[in-house]
Order: sequence, then C-alpha cells, then structure tokens
Amino acid sequence: MDKMLVRGGKALKGTVHVHGAKNAALPLMAASLLAHEPVTLHNVPCLHDIFSMDKVLSSMGVGIDFTGRSMTLDCTGDIEPFAPYDLVRKMRASFFVLGALLGRFGRAKVSLPGGCAIGTRPVDIHLKGLEQLGAKIEIEDGYVVAEGRMKGANVAMEFPSVGATENLMMAAAVAEGVTRLHNVAREPEIEDLAKMLNAMGAQISGAGTDLITVVGVERLGGVEHVVMPDRIEAGTFLVASVATRGDVLVQNAIADDLPVFLDKLRDAGAEIEVMGNSIRARALNGIKAVDISTRPFPGFATDLQAQMMSLLACANGTSHIKETVFENRFMQAAELIRMGASIDLDGNTAIVRGVDHLSGAPVMASDLRASASLVIAGLMAEKGETAIHRVYHIDRGYERIEERLSALGADIRRVRE
Ligand code: UD1
Repeated sequence: MDKMLVRGGKALKGTVHVHGAKNAALPLMAASLLAHEPVTLHNVPCLHDIFSMDKVLSSMGVGIDFTGRSMTLDCTGDIEPFAPYDLVRKMRASFFVLGALLGRFGRAKVSLPGGCAIGTRPVDIHLKGLEQLGAKIEIEDGYVVAEGRMKGANVAMEFPSVGATENLMMAAAVAEGVTRLHNVAREPEIEDLAKMLNAMGAQISGAGTDLITVVGVERLGGVEHVVMPDRIEAGTFLVASVATRGDVLVQNAIADDLPVFLDKLRDAGAEIEVMGNSIRARALNGIKAVDISTRPFPGFATDLQAQMMSLLACANGTSHIKETVFENRFMQAAELIRMGASIDLDGNTAIVRGVDHLSGAPVMASDLRASASLVIAGLMAEKGETAIHRVYHIDRGYERIEERLSALGADIRRVRE
C-alpha cells in the first residue's frame, strides 16, 4: 500500500491541466450498453474508478479497448446483463449500468452497492423510478433482479439524485413513448450524458434543468464523444493554490460548472480570474472565514466540501460548513484536528475556528475527497511532514496527483509502505 509524504509551506505556482471528468465518464461508459454500434470516448481519465467500470462491463461481455485517453466500447456481441457483488461493492457507480441494461435487454441482475464511508446511500430513488417505467423489481440475495420492457411515464424524484437521474435517462431513452422526469439532478455531467445519448440517436431535452423529457426511440447507434473536464479536480487545484498563497492557472476548467464554489472562494479572499476555459486563483492577503452549505448543482458541490474545510482551517474567524447532501461526510475533520485545526461537529454542521497554522502529522485517508483535503492540509502545514496513509482513495479520482502538484512546486512524494 502506498502513502504520500508532504512537506508544506511552499506556494504552488504554475499551470496545471484538468483531465476528463470521472463522474461523466462512468455513466457514459454505462450508456455504451445501449448502443448497437461501437462507442468511442475521448479524454477519459486514467483512474481506478474507470478501471473498475471497465471490469464490470468487460465481465458482461463488452469489448473494451482503452489506449491513451481514448476508449472504445463494443456492445455488439453477446452481453450477459449481470453485475456481480465483487465488482459492484468496489464502486457504487457500477450500479449505474442498471438503467441501460433494462433499456437494452429488458432484464438485468445487478448487485446492491452496499454502504460506503460517507453514508448508507440507498438506491430507492433509482428503483422506484425504474418501476414507474415498467420494471418488475425483486431483491434476491443482495441483488436487484429486474425485468420488463420500458414504457414512458411521468416520474417525480423525491430528491435530485445524480445517479438515479442518469439511470432513468438511460432506461427512458429506448422506452416506448414519452417519459417526463421531474425534480431531477442538474449536474453538468447529466448534460454531458444527454449530449452523448442524443448524438447516438436519443431524443432527450431539458438536461441541466429540473425537468427532463425523453421521447423513446427504438435503437441507439454508435458515437464518438469527448468527456467533459472534471470540475471537482479543477476546484481541488484552485483551493490548493489559494490555500498555499500560490498562483496557479488551472486549464480546462469551466467557470460555469463551479458557480457557488467560485463565489465562496472569492468571499474567502481569493482573487479569481476567469479566462475562457482557464481559471487563475491566488490569495494576496489572508483567508477570511465563510459559511458554506452543500447543495445539489448549481449549489456548492459536496465533492468540494472537504477541500474547502482544509482552506478554512487557517482562515481569519469562524466558518460554518453544513453538509446537506450526505449524512456522514466530515471524516476528514478528525484528521485535520490531528494537524492542529480547531473543528467541532454539531450534527451536519462543522464549526471551523481558524487557527494560525497547521503542522504535519500522520493521517489516514477515508474516502476520495477527504484524501484530497488532507493533501491540501499537508501543503498548508508550515512545519513537519504529513504522511497520508491509504492513498488508494485518492487514485480513484485524481490522476498522478503527486506529480502534478510537484510540477507546481509542491514537496510531495509517494512511497511504498
Ligand atoms: C454522484 C457522484 C458523487 C457526488 C454525488 C452528489 C458520480 C459517480 N458520483 O453520486 O461524486 O458526491 O453525486 O453530488 O457521479 N440517495 C437516496 N436514494 C437514492 C439515491 C440517492 O437516498 O436512491 C441519497 C444519497 O444517499 C445521498 C444523496 O441522495 O445522500 C445524493 O446522492 P446521489 O446524488 O444519488 O449521488 P451519486 O449519484 O451516488
């Protein structure tokens, strides 16, 4: 197992390029199951979660060629619509194959994902929506066993779940008749999925709003599609720049994908300059406390909450961070406290009292974004070394992060434990 060693106190400077979005690429890979011709994705990030989805699809019989950053998925052969527990438990997003499998084959057996570090994360919204589209669903031995031809329907989601919106959009794309999905998630990754499905022949409108209309079509064809840039990776580099009093230009970062986040960084005292598809972030003066509440898009992304907590740990004043999307997403707080932060948890709110400085310490990564926050805290620490254990979490969502931070002047290296 690898660990990351970080010596902080250095301002990050330079330019970094953001890769394709993991959270867009995963459902796009699942959507290839609907295609009667090969699908080619470009700008696919080389991440563990992508390899996990590759395994899930390959195990069903999908032919996959992943060369460089391009991936061709061929679902023209025999496909077994079955996703086993051993693969699904490693990554919840594997569950996103269910809608596409039902749409294409009218039957699927997909393991329930189980719990994860940031909460119980049920799949009731996915299942209820698919039932409304005509699926008969049974839970057998930890598996969702579903069958039925998809028929257009009106579905109102109880909460705008990202994964459920994607699953339902895929199932509805080849349903008989018109589907209206109400109260859906509006995340940019959903727009990316709709864009690709439409290029394959689907008729989807309204992606990016809270009402998506899908006119079912009989058959979807192949496509070449470029995966959108990763807004969470962009946000992480921007926070790292500000947190180290650096000056970093983040290329391939779309400001429209980070609305509230950029406002909050500005409120914290950062200078943010948007230049086309690049964003420059620096902090000339001290960091100010700000209050944050995570929300579905276009609100403050829960996937950037932990990184922001590290920044605010050394702000001037007290910040309140409220987590409304997940029930247990402050795992980084205890580790930041080990580095000298002053954080109290009160239900779903973290009260972060800014301290003068952080110090290096051995810490444990617990999930993907928590590990990014610990890397940022390590870069901020004015003395000592931070050893981040269980860094495999960070490899799920950030490609060679230590090399890219080193290129910006950070003192960070990966070692084998
Ligand atoms: C996606 C993202 C993840 C991000 C999250 C919220 C991917 C691969 N992952 O995850 O990085 O943090 O959106 O922006 O795109 N819920 C239910 N029942 C359901 C589904 C969800 O109660 O059937 C709850 C979850 O437990 C959670 C909340 O809804 O509390 C949000 O979950 P959801 O939007 O579904 O997240 P994911 O799609 O899993």
